[in-house]
Amino acid sequence: MRKILVTSALPYANGSIHLGHLVEYLQTDIWVRHQKMSNNDCTYVCADDAHGTPIMLKARELNITPEKLIEESKKEHIEDFADFHIEFDNYHTTHSEENKMLSELIYNNLKDKGVIERREIQQYYDEDEEMFLPDRYIKGTCPKCGAKEQYGDSCEKCGGTYSSTEVIDPISVISNSKPIKKKTEHLFFRLSNYEEFLNKWLTDNRVQKEINNKMKEWLSDGLSSWDITRDRPYFGFSIPGEKEKFFYVWLDAPVGYIASFKNLCDKNSTDYFESWKKGSEVELYHFIGKDIAYFHVLFWPSMLEGAGFRTPTSVFCHGFLTIDGEKMSKSRGTFIKARTYLNHLNPEYLRYYFASRLTSKIEDIDLNFNDFIARVNSDLVGKVINIGSRCARFINKDFESTLASKSNNQSLIAQILAKKNIIQTNYENREFSKNIRVISSLADDVNKYIDDEKPWIKIKNKENSESVHEVCSDGINMFRVLIGYLKPVLPKVAQNVEKLLRCTPIDWYNIDQLILEKKIETFKPIITRIDEKSIEIIKTEARED
Ligand code: MSP
Ligand code: ZN
Repeated sequence: MRKILVTSALPYANGSIHLGHLVEYLQTDIWVRHQKMSNNDCTYVCADDAHGTPIMLKARELNITPEKLIEESKKEHIEDFADFHIEFDNYHTTHSEENKMLSELIYNNLKDKGVIERREIQQYYDEDEEMFLPDRYIKGTCPKCGAKEQYGDSCEKCGGTYSSTEVIDPISVISNSKPIKKKTEHLFFRLSNYEEFLNKWLTDNRVQKEINNKMKEWLSDGLSSWDITRDRPYFGFSIPGEKEKFFYVWLDAPVGYIASFKNLCDKNSTDYFESWKKGSEVELYHFIGKDIAYFHVLFWPSMLEGAGFRTPTSVFCHGFLTIDGEKMSKSRGTFIKARTYLNHLNPEYLRYYFASRLTSKIEDIDLNFNDFIARVNSDLVGKVINIGSRCARFINKDFESTLASKSNNQSLIAQILAKKNIIQTNYENREFSKNIRVISSLADDVNKYIDDEKPWIKIKNKENSESVHEVCSDGINMFRVLIGYLKPVLPKVAQNVEKLLRCTPIDWYNIDQLILEKKIETFKPIITRIDEKSIEIIKTEARED
C-alpha cells in the first residue's frame, strides 16, 4: 500500500470557481479516486488562498473585512467543489494558525541558513492611498514598444516583460494618481544557492518534458533572488522580527498545502505529519496549471530544501481551458462559473467530458459544446448507460429481477477484464482520454453482442429462455465492469449502479468477480441525455453574472 499526499493549487479567495479551475480539481479528483480504488492510502488536501493585495482591495470595495470575505468565499468554494463530487480529505485556508506557524518556521530556518538577504529597493508608491503598488496595479506605456495602457510587469501588445519602474507615464490603477518612487527595505530569498539542488531535482524525472526544458532555460539564465516582502497595508502574515512587513502571498500560499495536511492530521490525531516532514515513505504530488509552474518548480522545492523539509515527488502541470476554441470571455458568455453550470447541467457530464480530453501533456484543453453534447449523449448515455438500462429492464420484467447462474459469453467477459491493467496504468499516468476511448470501444463490443443475440425478439417468441436469461445477465455483468472502469470519473453513476445491482462498492480488486444468481433492484434512470437548450441558457446567464 502506497502512502500518497495530493494537492491541487489553492484557489484565490476573491473570486468564484469557474470551469477553467475545474479542469484542475477534476483532474486531481479522478486521479485520487483511482488511488483510493487501488486501496492506496491517499490523502487529498486543498485550501483557499486567502492573502494578498487583490483580496484586501476586494474586501474594501465590498465594505467588509478581509476575514469576512475569505470566510464567505471558502464556504462558496467548498459547496461548488462538493457539488462537482470533488472529494477533499481536508479543505482549509491559508489564513490559519497552522499556516502562520509553518510559514514562520520555514522562514526562520531559511534565515538561519543565511539565505535571506536584506536590500533597499525603489518601488512605486501611491500617495493618495498611502501604499506601495504591486506591478498589476500600475498602468502605463510599454518601455519596449510604446503601447499605451499596459500593466506594470508585462505588455500584452509585444509580450515584453520589464520592471514597473521602467514603465513610461505610470498611473496608479487604484487612485488614478501619478505614483512616486519611494525607497523601502525588503527581504529576499537567495534562490541561486539552490541551483545545484534544482539541477539534481530536474534529473530525477520529477516534472514533465515541457517543464523540464523550461527549468533548464531558467537555470541557465541564472536565478535572481526572490522578493518575499510586502509593505503595509497588506492582508497577510507579518514577518517575525520586522516592523510593518508582511510575507508576500506566494511565500505562505504553498505552505498552505502542508498546513491543510497538518490540520487534518491534528483533527484525526494521526502522527503522519512527523513522517511526512521527513518524507521517507510518503509520495507527494502537486497538481497545478501551467501559469504557476515557476512558483512550484523553482521557489517551492528550494524553500523546502532550504528549510530542511522534504521536497515534492512530482509536480503535475496541465494546460488552460478554452471554450469553443477561444479564451473564456464574459462577452461571449463563456466565462462560466461552477454554480451557473450546476444550476442547469449534471456535474458528471463535465467530469466525463474533461476526462475524455485530459492527457498527461501541458496542452490547452478545449470545451467544444457540440462535441460535449455528442460525447455525453452518444458515447456515455447512448452506448455505456444503454447496456445497463436495456438489460436491467429485461431482468426486472422477464426474469424476476434475478441474474442467471452462468455466463453465455465467457470470452467477451474475459476480453473486457483483460483491459483492467491498461485502464489502471492510464489512470496512474493521467492519460484519462485513452481510458475513455478504450471503454467506449468495449461498450461497442457489448452492444454488438446483445444486438446479435436479440433478447427482445427471443423473449417475445418465448425461445430458449435460459440462454436469453444468460445474455441479459452477461449484459449486466459487462456493464458493471465498464462502470467500474469509469468509477473515478463518474462516482455518482457508479454508486447508483452499485445500488441497482446490490453489489459491494467496486474497486480494482473485486471488479472481476461476476455477480450470478443475485437479485437486483428495479431499474431507475441513471443519467439522462443533455438537453441542448441548457447550454444557451448557461451562456446567457454567464454574460449577466
Ligand atoms: N492562488 C494561486 C495558487 C496558489 S497554489 C499554492 C492561484 N489561484 S487561481 O485561483 O488563480 O488558480 C487556481 C488553479 O486553477 C491554478 O492551478 C490555475 O492554473 C488553475 N486555473 C485557473 N484558470 C484556469 C483555466 N482557465 N484553465 C485551466 N486551469 C486554470 O493561481
Ligand atoms: Zn510592448
